[in-house]
Amino acid sequence: MIEQLVEKASVLIEALPYIKRFRGKEVLIKFGGSAMLDQEVRENILHDLVFMNYVGIRPVLIHGGGHAITENLKKAGIESRFVCGLRVTDEATVKIVVKTLSDLNKKMVRDLNRFGAQAVGLSGHNSKILSVVKHDKDGDVGFVGDVTAVNIRPIRELTVANTIPVIYPVGIDDRGDTYNVNADEAAAKIAAAMSVQKIMILTNVQGIMKDPKDSNSLMPSLHVEKVDQLIRDQTITAGMIPKVNACTFALRADVAKAHIVDGRIKHALLLEIFTDRGIGTEIVL
Ligand SMILES: Nc1ncnc2c1ncn2[C@@H]1O[C@H](COP(=O)(O)OP(=O)(O)OP(=O)(O)O)[C@@H](O)[C@H]1O
Ligand SMILES: [Mg+2]
Repeated sequence: MIEQLVEKASVLIEALPYIKRFRGKEVLIKFGGSAMLDQEVRENILHDLVFMNYVGIRPVLIHGGGHAITENLKKAGIESRFVCGLRVTDEATVKIVVKTLSDLNKKMVRDLNRFGAQAVGLSGHNSKILSVVKHDKDGDVGFVGDVTAVNIRPIRELTVANTIPVIYPVGIDDRGDTYNVNADEAAAKIAAAMSVQKIMILTNVQGIMKDPKDSNSLMPSLHVEKVDQLIRDQTITAGMIPKVNACTFALRADVAKAHIVDGRIKHALLLEIFTDRGIGTEIVL
């Protein structure tokens, strides 16, 4: 019995150097639609965030909502179409995207507050947090925006007050139109603009796999210079592409660390931040 208690104390002590290192520092966490679907997974992640917040780390949360958006579009009779991983977004679609993300956002803010943290929801088009131009590299995909500038002020006002900003990725162009923004891209641009200590992308796979069908093929570490080749030979495809690109962008913009982590693992965030046992894939410069 006493051994078990000592073991628990040892675990706390093991976290001490990491708490010292990250205390007062910002860590950006992106949380994907796929990992958000399961209530237990979502609540586990939010509990970890609250813990981080209580030991003095400043988490910034950004979320997508791919699955819920597709569901709500279906209900409205709109078929989802993707070009190069981007959702083709007409005017009717953008309205549903914003409504769905805003509802998810409220839910997460409510949960974080319920778990004892202070959290505030932010839309990327409030205070021009995300300024965008229309994405035009893959033909006309409608209201899909590329982030050109980030206003970090409203985000930082919250982190310095120990409040968790919970951001959803929509942007605004110079005419005031609202755009859908890929959540991984938004995460990278915000992480870079804020020079956070670490960007962590939580998803529903173990990390980057050599062969997504082989569960023993996780790549624990990947050098940025290898990324383009892996995309070219189609080892990395679909929703994993914006994630590796996001990590590469953030690292090149001086973010110290970038990880792609399995959000389904219980306490994935705490394991990654507070222990030596890295999980998922670390992208390195
Ligand atoms: N080499 C790879 N290793 C791991 N996963 C890969 C790889 N290549 C492609 N993938 C795919 O990328 C997916 C993760 O991206 P996806 O966009 O589906 O998730 P998300 O961004 O977390 O959620 P959402 O886009 O719904 O918000 C995996 O489920 C997998 O199918
Ligand atoms: Mg995705």
